[in-house]
Amino acid sequence: MTEAANRKPIKKAVFPVAGLGTRFLPATKAIPKEMLPIIDRPLIQYAVDEAREAGIEQLIFVTGRGKSALVEHFDMAFELEKTMADRHKSLEVLEPTRIQPGNLVAVRQQVPMGLGHAIWCARAIVGDEPFAIFLPDELMIAHQGGGGCMKQMVEAYNAHGGNVISVLEVPEAEVSSYGVIAPGAQVSAQVTEVAGLVEKPRREEAPSNLIISGRYILQPEVMRVLEGQAAGAGGEIQLTDAMARMIGQQPFHAVTFNGRRFDCGSKTGFVEATLALALERDDMADEVRAMAKRLLAQG
Ligand code: UTP
Repeated sequence: MTEAANRKPIKKAVFPVAGLGTRFLPATKAIPKEMLPIIDRPLIQYAVDEAREAGIEQLIFVTGRGKSALVEHFDMAFELEKTMADRHKSLEVLEPTRIQPGNLVAVRQQVPMGLGHAIWCARAIVGDEPFAIFLPDELMIAHQGGGGCMKQMVEAYNAHGGNVISVLEVPEAEVSSYGVIAPGAQVSAQVTEVAGLVEKPRREEAPSNLIISGRYILQPEVMRVLEGQAAGAGGEIQLTDAMARMIGQQPFHAVTFNGRRFDCGSKTGFVEATLALALERDDMADEVRAMAKRLLAQG
């Protein structure tokens, strides 16, 4: 068998959703950030839809205190469904929230010690398989008729194996807020080798202006690297540091997503996503466009 045929498929995804969401307080005091809706779907729903489109079957939520709404969102709401059915209302709108029994597992991160630590908390469920990671506050929207971000990454994984992360270009002034890659050889229009990684570098020390954008496919060895890792930038256990240590041991590629990304972890990014998606929806685009024009005219 060829190497590609031996490759284990990506069937599991980890959704680290245990962060405190401090930038959205007080909205996120009692409600997880990932439950904030862009129009009528919570952020977590967009990420789960993207995962399923890419062929992922098992969803692993790394949650914390006050995050149970995320699990409930994907549970069956018997009373709601019965009442809607009795009133002859269509249940189709709930379709995306249905998960096969057993395909959603929640594990707890007891203390928010960073993204790397959150991923490590899922190690027993991930087991010995390559897996995907989704940061749901990064909203990745495919172009009309194009595949989603994770689907494009799975295609790169099928071609190259190893580890795959998604990247995007930002203005140089912004690099110090993100994980940044040192690009290696360009493999194709969308795929680049990753030669190095650094979390939140100073602008003058950043190896490029290509930042990691919230989607990963990683080999299970990352769990062992995370196991003994000390805290990095911001006093947190950084996933970027663990990935950096895997470069050179396994193939490592970056995919530039052919689509749009909205940083919904920031308030302005959240507003931008809401407006952009509203302007594309048949049921509201005309009204929203007229509204936006009116508001802009008022200065
Ligand atoms: P962020 O850096 O966006 O942090 O985490 P946050 O807590 O969600 O939001 P702010 O900055 O306080 O407003 C990136 C991702 O990592 C998860 C978050 O839930 C988010 O999906 N995370 C972060 C954890 O699961 N655990 C952590 O300890 C830290």
